[in-house]
Amino acid sequence: STTSGDALPGMRFDAVAPNTEDAVVIPDGYRQEVVIRWGDPVLPGAPEFDFANQTPEAQAGQFGFNNDFAGLIPVDGVADHHYLVANLEYPTEPFMFAGYIDGEPTEQQARIAMASVGIAIVEVTSKAGTGALTPVVGPRNRRLTASSPFRLTGPAAGSEFVKTAADPAGTTVLGTFANCSGGLTPWGTMLSGEENFNNYFANPSTITDPKAAERLERYSFDDDGDEHHWGRFDRRFDLAVEPNEGNRFGYIVEVDPHDPNAVPVKHSSMGRFKHESANIYVVGSGPDKDTVVAYSGDDERFEYIYKFVSSRKMKSGLSKTAREHNMGILDEGTLYVATFTGDSPDPVDGSGTPPASGKFAGKGSWKPLLTVNADGSARSYIPGMTPAEVAVFTRQAADTVGATKMDRPEDIEPNPKTGKVYCALTNNDDRGTDGKAAADAVNPRNENKNGQVLEMTDDHTGTEFTWELLLVCGDPGAADTYYGGFDKTKVSAISCPDNVAFDPHGNLWISTDGNALDSNDGLFAVALDGERRGETKQFLTVPKGGETCGPIIDTDRVLIAVQHPGELDDHSADNPASHWPDGGDSQPRPAVVAVWRDGGAEIGV
Ligand code: FEO
Ligand code: CA
Ligand code: CA
Ligand code: CA
Repeated sequence: STTSGDALPGMRFDAVAPNTEDAVVIPDGYRQEVVIRWGDPVLPGAPEFDFANQTPEAQAGQFGFNNDFAGLIPVDGVADHHYLVANLEYPTEPFMFAGYIDGEPTEQQARIAMASVGIAIVEVTSKAGTGALTPVVGPRNRRLTASSPFRLTGPAAGSEFVKTAADPAGTTVLGTFANCSGGLTPWGTMLSGEENFNNYFANPSTITDPKAAERLERYSFDDDGDEHHWGRFDRRFDLAVEPNEGNRFGYIVEVDPHDPNAVPVKHSSMGRFKHESANIYVVGSGPDKDTVVAYSGDDERFEYIYKFVSSRKMKSGLSKTAREHNMGILDEGTLYVATFTGDSPDPVDGSGTPPASGKFAGKGSWKPLLTVNADGSARSYIPGMTPAEVAVFTRQAADTVGATKMDRPEDIEPNPKTGKVYCALTNNDDRGTDGKAAADAVNPRNENKNGQVLEMTDDHTGTEFTWELLLVCGDPGAADTYYGGFDKTKVSAISCPDNVAFDPHGNLWISTDGNALDSNDGLFAVALDGERRGETKQFLTVPKGGETCGPIIDTDRVLIAVQHPGELDDHSADNPASHWPDGGDSQPRPAVVAVWRDGGAEIGV
């Protein structure tokens, strides 16, 4: 049978069953400990968390709200110390403040929210004999919030689309928010995707210039979408006052943790859209042969998959010269968008049932949108659009080349062992409804509630690839699911894939957001090769109402970020559904958790 024998190395643990516990549930023989929670001090002098007495000043020095991506970067020259880099995606005010009145934040609440988002860089040290990590509150730490200065690079910088009263040069942006997933670079920096930035801006309907209004609509700006009401207290978030401010968000952000004073960058050469993340693959070897390729998805219904092929080679080491040079790698090169076609002669019927050939598969190609040269000059491939327009209104550029409308591209990441590229397409309720695009070969299910996982075999620096669906997620007992050809009676059910990562053995790990199968969200390992391809095992589940983020899968430690624990309908800080992680009658707090194996043995072997 295809399911005989042991699971692959890295996947030898007892799968965690679906559940609705208010806890992080891990396999037998494993242990866990919280690393850092919302409100824990990050900067020296920051106070301890005090839910009832929050201030913007305290929050700006503490770990922020709704941690998503997490990464560990070694501290140069200090054994067993790492920078924990974490995205702090978005505030959910009804769960942050007692007595919050929906749509009516006080100025104090809005300013706490502005300080709660962005990025945290926290030095952590290993605890001897365990996989636990302890924060070091010291001078290496950093908090980036909605007001920290960033340098805008690439064709958007200095263009008419990003100039504001506060920044007439159009080169210095205050703040980052909606930071969803991200990635680490081989040159020691962190990449962070600015995703649902449209939800922070008031009054797009006041923009009457037809071209500007069309651009706002293409990025889903909407008066009702202003969820946080910051524009009432900081007028730059009111588009009626500062019409270009929204064009200054939606980029890939790069942060160098090795220098707490280094100004972080927003790379407009990689385009502006709802970047879920960016992840790097390096082709070739040697200082002058390496070509850096970055993959990124645009997470909204019917949006696209992109890649950026750099023309600047990496310098090795962490010298100041090398770091400054490497921070420009993602400014020079060519931005592409993906198109997909199917191989099967059978028509796609929208049911999600695999075709007679057994699997969904096909070919694709990358269409160039923009090339940026070393001297800053640039070429647009889109008739009627300048390079700056392609960099800022990338979705509209991609529309013109027939890019394939996907089911919400979340994290996309190359497997360092094989080079194959994996993208989580989380779900798309609107597929095939009401005049919207119908199912196609790579998005084969109408009203897609459970999502699918795409595997691409890409000529990284070239323009052609082949693809197949590794998973069509959902109830393994249903006809509209596919688990890589593995015996579906022997897998853990997975739904709504979001973040992806790889373990040191080359297995794919997937964390979920919005499980449609009546269980808490979880973290799953998936076998990719041989007769066990498609075997899917749940490693942990997160507390009820939470979402599984992070994740990092190391040899002897798994790190996850638990986002929005307790966020269930009809609950709020006045009526908490979860008391994780502090227990008793405490408020739930998003937190990063380390999981390791008793005695320090390797994960899953
Ligand atoms: Fe913030 Fe695409 O999830
Ligand atoms: Ca996500
Ligand atoms: Ca990832
Ligand atoms: Ca998510």
